[in-house]
Amino acid sequence: MAGAGGGELVGAVAGAGALGFIGAGYYSDADLAQQLALASAKAAPVDGRLPFGVGLLVWRLGMPGGPHTAFVDAVIEARPCAIWLSYGEQAATAAWIGYIRTRDSAIRIVSTANTLEEARVAVTAWRTDLLCVQGIEAGGHGLGSAPPRDALLSAVLAESANWDVKVPVIAAGGIATGANVAAVLVQGAAGAAVGTRFLVSDESLYSAAQKDLLVAARENDTVRSLAFDDARNTVGWPTGIDGRGLKSDTVADYDAAAARGALETEAEARRARYAAAAASGETERLITWSGTGIGSITSVLPAAEIVARLTADAASALADAAQLL
Ligand SMILES: Cc1cc2nc3c(=O)[nH]c(=O)nc-3n(C[C@H](O)[C@H](O)[C@H](O)COP(=O)(O)O)c2cc1C
Repeated sequence: MAGAGGGELVGAVAGAGALGFIGAGYYSDADLAQQLALASAKAAPVDGRLPFGVGLLVWRLGMPGGPHTAFVDAVIEARPCAIWLSYGEQAATAAWIGYIRTRDSAIRIVSTANTLEEARVAVTAWRTDLLCVQGIEAGGHGLGSAPPRDALLSAVLAESANWDVKVPVIAAGGIATGANVAAVLVQGAAGAAVGTRFLVSDESLYSAAQKDLLVAARENDTVRSLAFDDARNTVGWPTGIDGRGLKSDTVADYDAAAARGALETEAEARRARYAAAAASGETERLITWSGTGIGSITSVLPAAEIVARLTADAASALADAAQLL
């Protein structure tokens, strides 16, 4: 998770037996080295390979051979077990997958799909090693028009019977409890990708103020919007991508400007207001990404305990459900 999933969190998750990804999308070379070292200190290489992955934002990378190639080389040379490539145009994503595999064929590639068509391309054209289908419930970025997670997962699993290659499919979006994990396993997923639950962990890079907002938030307190990227000027995402986060005055400012037809003309003033609020510690304008599962998250926990609880609660939910038959 870019901005939240650093080495402390990913190392703790790996130590607890789950697979975490350092969200390196906005990192400098120095940030990458620092976060890799933090994660490695908690989760040492296994057979010369880091037991965690690195996530990259394809739209920020350009094409292989361009200025960001050295950064990707540094990721590859760290020997992660997997690289998750997301949020890019298809040609660029395919090119990076080819580049990574040429340099290190043992690195597993993970891809996100927000539609059935994206899933088909990732599996049949890119030969991705692990497919994550991400529904509209997900915290952070995704396709604003994505179907609900369950509908997308069902469609992808049904369609995948026709594909010439089989890969594990995991589900993402609003999964915050063990019962949620059990639900996607029953549907046929090979696993769950969990984001927001780990934002509210001791080890996440989120501030105490952001974690307080998340703990207080309820299930209808999130919204998909372009306001978050507008405010911090992280623009350039592929067409149709927005993000889900907590409702805030930052979203209200954006919506009010849109209603006045003043999104462009007031952009600088809006960003200045956000920057001033961020500098002063004002919480009403904080950008706090969150999925719809936030209503089930009521406390900050150590990441290892989150992994243990999700696993144990999923097992007991599956056992309980089996009794109903
Ligand atoms: C703060 C935050 C940062 C994220 N950064 C990335 C990222 O860099 N790359 C990516 O593929 N997905 C990213 N995601 C999406 C997650 O991979 C995942 O799909 C999502 O969190 C699942 O939904 P949930 O938050 O409701 O559990 C991010 C999510 C959050 C909340």
